[in-house]
Amino acid sequence: MWSEMKPILKSKSDDEADYFPSSPRKDWSINLMKFVSILVIFMTGLAIGLSLSGHLSRFYTSQTDLFFPRTTYAASCDGDCMSLQNFIKPPHLIHSMSDEELFWRASMVPKMEEYPFERVPKVAFMFMTRGPLPFAPLWDRFFKGHEGLYSVYVHTLPDYRLNVSMSSVFFGRQIPSEEVSWGSVTLVDAEKRLLANALLDFSNERFILLSESCIPVYNFPTVYEYLINSAHTFVESYDENTPQGRGRYSRRMAPKIQLYHWRKGSEWFELNRELAINIVAEYKYYSLFRKYCRPSCYPDEHYIPTYLNMFHGSLNANRSVTWVDWSRGGPHPATYGAPNVTVEFIRAIRNNGTFCMYNSRPTSICFLFARKFAPSALGPLLNLTSTVMDF
Ligand SMILES: *[C@@H]1O[C@H](CO)[C@@H](O)[C@H](O)[C@H]1NC(C)=O
Ligand SMILES: *[C@@H]1O[C@H](CO)[C@@H](O)[C@H](O)[C@H]1NC(C)=O
Ligand SMILES: *[C@@H]1O[C@H](CO)[C@@H](O)[C@H](O)[C@H]1NC(C)=O
Ligand SMILES: *[C@@H]1O[C@H](CO)[C@@H](O)[C@H](O)[C@H]1NC(C)=O
Ligand SMILES: *[C@@H]1O[C@H](CO)[C@@H](O)[C@H](O)[C@H]1NC(C)=O
Repeated sequence: MWSEMKPILKSKSDDEADYFPSSPRKDWSINLMKFVSILVIFMTGLAIGLSLSGHLSRFYTSQTDLFFPRTTYAASCDGDCMSLQNFIKPPHLIHSMSDEELFWRASMVPKMEEYPFERVPKVAFMFMTRGPLPFAPLWDRFFKGHEGLYSVYVHTLPDYRLNVSMSSVFFGRQIPSEEVSWGSVTLVDAEKRLLANALLDFSNERFILLSESCIPVYNFPTVYEYLINSAHTFVESYDENTPQGRGRYSRRMAPKIQLYHWRKGSEWFELNRELAINIVAEYKYYSLFRKYCRPSCYPDEHYIPTYLNMFHGSLNANRSVTWVDWSRGGPHPATYGAPNVTVEFIRAIRNNGTFCMYNSRPTSICFLFARKFAPSALGPLLNLTSTVMDF
């Protein structure tokens, strides 16, 4: 660039020099004027060159965005790439990091306790779906008016594009995703990928995993206060002496993981930031699950419950905040559709008269979310939000 620009400028300045009639007194002032004009022309040329290259790179970026959305990470920061703002809250979710690179970056913890910015803790709502989100309108209503207190992340099949309006909380919230197959370790990989992407935002403090068939049963302020002020994380973790519990343990995991460590629990976890970082950074036990928790073992039901039991048991409430109905037996829980959604039903999920522990005190609020609901339940649920769910 420099070698190309210099001769052009030189010939230009020679032309310009012709506009100044040469006087007999070729004194220093003429030399100064020449110098200044050369400088002005040079700076103008530089400015034009820079703005052109800026336009070109922006054009180039938008083209690559369109065709290779995975490769725009390097070009995706606007203006000051090194600003604190870009570091603590990356403006785009799309990046080209591999899981290995992403997990490494997401596991970083600042050594300073004070933040150089006002940190309002947020709840990260992480949705794991193959594709569509039938309850997006219900969630949009749930989040309305609470901007700044939540973040949304969506993991889909790699090629799926969510079709939501620009005003939806789900707009532009898909993370770079990979193939997931039910019951395999790829589900744990997707969970870690969601956690890691959410950890890049330093204000995210609580991390809740949800599916496309989950709904909220309390309003946002209740959910926010409940999670942010909890001393415990909500991961179901129990010991079950059945073929579907202890029966899935493999002796080949010993001596690092013993049968008495082994726990089972629902995949739909809620974690605080500290534990989320530990899980994203953890590889030793994960690799044992990857090798030996198969087939018919379901790592997503055992890895996090077992790992927390081994190292962070006292931080866990050992119960889930997502209601589910297993009462009918079989490998899948009951699914509720339009005819099942009534005021009484939702009221019973919110409070059925039983108590659970919250910060070591009994409470009647045990579940904040519920599953599974069929898409047909959307209409009746939207009808109930103001009367039962208070949003
Ligand atoms: C996206 O959603 C809109 C509104 O629901 C619909 O009209 C449109 O056909 C959808 N586009 C695709 C590609 O599915
Ligand atoms: C959850 O289980 C762990 C054992 O893994 C236990 O130490 C902890 O006290 C339990 N949490 C609560 C809130 O009871
Ligand atoms: C939902 O309602 C239908 C029709 O009343 C009923 O057949 C079905 O068992 C109900 N499902 C559940 C999970 O209660
Ligand atoms: C209330 O819900 C809990 C959790 O689903 C269940 O174990 C309990 O049996 C229910 N109690 C009543 C009275 O329905
Ligand atoms: C919503 O409630 C109104 C009035 O109760 C009722 O007419 C309508 O059918 C309901 N819509 C759905 C989708 O349930």
